[in-house]
Amino acid sequence: MTIHSSGLPHRWRALGIAGLLAALAACGGDPAGHGPAAQAPDAAPARVSLIPQPARIEPAQGRFVLTAATPLLAEGEQARTVAAQFAALLAKGRGLAPELAADGAGGEGAIRFAIDPARATGAESYRLDVSPQGVDVVAGDAAGLFYGAMTLLQLATLDDADTVALPALRIEDAPRFGWRGFMLDPARHFWSVEQVKQVIDAMALHKLNTLHWHLTDDQGWRIEIKQYPKLTEIGGCRIPAGDGGIDPASGQPRPYCGFYTQDQVREVVAYAAARHISIVPEFDVPGHATAAIAAYPELGTLDTPLVPSSEWGVFPNLFNTEEATFRFLENVIAEMVPLFPGPYFHIGGDEAVKDQWEASARVQQRMRELGAKDEMAMQSLLVARLEKFLAGHGKRLIGWDEILEGPLPAQATVMSWRGGEGALKAAREGHDVVMAPSGDLYLDYLQTSSPQEPPGRPATITLQQVYDFEPVPAELEAERQGHILGLQANLWTEHTRTFERLQHHMFPRLAAVAETGWTPAARKDYRDFLQRLPAQLRRYQRWGIGYALTPFQVDAVARDERATGTATVTLSNPLDYEVRYTTDGGEPQADSALYSAPLPVTLPATVRAAAFFEGRPLAPARDYAYDAASLRVRSDEQLATCPAAGDLLLRLEDDGPADGERAIFNLTIFYPCWLWSEADLDGVASIKVRAGTIPYYFQLAHDEPHRRFEPARSAHGELDILADGCEGERIASVPLPAAPEADGFVELTAALPQGLSGRQDLCLRFTGDTRPRTWVLDRATLQLR
Ligand code: ACM
Repeated sequence: MTIHSSGLPHRWRALGIAGLLAALAACGGDPAGHGPAAQAPDAAPARVSLIPQPARIEPAQGRFVLTAATPLLAEGEQARTVAAQFAALLAKGRGLAPELAADGAGGEGAIRFAIDPARATGAESYRLDVSPQGVDVVAGDAAGLFYGAMTLLQLATLDDADTVALPALRIEDAPRFGWRGFMLDPARHFWSVEQVKQVIDAMALHKLNTLHWHLTDDQGWRIEIKQYPKLTEIGGCRIPAGDGGIDPASGQPRPYCGFYTQDQVREVVAYAAARHISIVPEFDVPGHATAAIAAYPELGTLDTPLVPSSEWGVFPNLFNTEEATFRFLENVIAEMVPLFPGPYFHIGGDEAVKDQWEASARVQQRMRELGAKDEMAMQSLLVARLEKFLAGHGKRLIGWDEILEGPLPAQATVMSWRGGEGALKAAREGHDVVMAPSGDLYLDYLQTSSPQEPPGRPATITLQQVYDFEPVPAELEAERQGHILGLQANLWTEHTRTFERLQHHMFPRLAAVAETGWTPAARKDYRDFLQRLPAQLRRYQRWGIGYALTPFQVDAVARDERATGTATVTLSNPLDYEVRYTTDGGEPQADSALYSAPLPVTLPATVRAAAFFEGRPLAPARDYAYDAASLRVRSDEQLATCPAAGDLLLRLEDDGPADGERAIFNLTIFYPCWLWSEADLDGVASIKVRAGTIPYYFQLAHDEPHRRFEPARSAHGELDILADGCEGERIASVPLPAAPEADGFVELTAALPQGLSGRQDLCLRFTGDTRPRTWVLDRATLQLR
């Protein structure tokens, strides 16, 4: 059923970039540069805010004024290409269009791009000199020159003054790591060629150089393979769970489809290469194979047909171990390899639970034939075979760290996602390693605890946590440290349905990844990064890169003091930027009250608050309005979820409407239970709960035993209220209906026993196994006698 949003303010979502700029201008900052931060006409910008921080910056005297008349000089095709890229980006982001001078032109006041192979400072390095007389960007290779141009572009966007004044300086710069990556998952939700190009553009601005493209998974096969057309015809479409998979006009199934043709892949690869980004394709084997097996059932182990999955999680569907299947894998790889000129090919290898191989007599027979002592050894044989096949095609195999569980060819590279252990083991065994630990670098985890976060995994990975991640494990012996190629942030997209949300998850956290990948460890400094970040946000606005506003907004928590008709409001900014507020409904300004301690307010009250940096708001202000009634209401975001074994808390979207905004719910998928800490029960007669349902679209594989569902005591289960937390006494209960009302919700009222008083932890949980749907709590209200 279609469920409508519970009504939390989503004002900023609709703003878009133009609206955001207007809102920021209205807040007292001024994108045109005439506000408090505008520069005097001859001043160089005070702060050289570059991300990633260069290896070395030497300030000098004076400044260079860049105008539309500044000549761009470049000799040779590669340098001219970089100069043209710089000019195009400058025109787009700064509105200045200097021209590329004719070959051989010279002169004062120019920007000169040059490749000098004699520069012996390593791949991707560059030197940038800015003096009042001109700018020189010199590098030993085209990539280094491109990165010099990206730094120059950042110098041209340090502020918003009308005059583009670059501070005189010398930068000597080179990356710390050769692998500075980002993984995009188009299998769960599909991203168009134009959107992938936008990702590439944004990566290039951050000097990231590797895009890992996760092209195959249970939910979708996303690359055209001419020899096997059904991979995309059948494997490229799924019917989304619940209402999301029904056409509202016809009531017929509405498939979710998408794949890249080989021509499109070539186009994207070339686009990336022009920005010095190598694309690593992933064909995930032997697990994550449902879509491929749905297309060609003979590749699987079951007699029953499969469809590309509309559920999330870990699936048991593995490719079988027939010689014909191995040849299929090789044929697919052979078609993919020529499309991707980079050195690496990713064969997945993750989460291949072996239940089907264990259960299949035929697989067991093949294991005996091939001499595999167990299922992991079987996977290792497959990996070894593919490694050899790839080497024969001039490619290096890379796989997720599960490939280490059996013998692994020495040349294989390991992508370590399950913490640091795999990385240590791999490097000690002599493998190269890319660090991509889920606990630090998975961008589908939410970045703040704000109720404004989009769907995702709410085990929060903050900007600081991403920033503080150190790719080289401290325990790793010095002589092995060279095996750490670098780091990569991964963005799985089960819960990311729109490009706006994809960008929200990526930025600003990818800026932190970029700094770790590029900047010498000794030059990293999180506090300093936060000081440089506001300039980067304004670059995002200039180049149309969406980013999360939640880290730059102000969150509020109110505690109601009912006896006195007052409340205490605690304000915070997730990144600890300064918070300023008003209580008279006015827009917070640079000179509004600075928040320093919880605010006592008399009800009704409105608090408007924004986070500021150097006199400018970092995001539109948020309003918090309180009265006695609103303080007795909690949304699911304002409640905790109950502790449960496995504890997989997700922030999930409703399945409808098919188009447009959908409600979002926090749910522990092992236990539908929420906790209202310290609920003020004085005079409370009942609790009203607004509840809805969403599809229970999870495959839990070996985590299934973690599901904790209290048995239902009536036909459809009940809403139980417990006092003193979730192990406390049941004090009220309401039977659940078979389904919510037509609007997707039902209001349930549970009468509470008389005589409750004081503050207590109330636990609200649904009983029964209601799959294929699950109840979700939208809002709870304490009702007075
Ligand atoms: C992974 O997150 N399954 C690599």
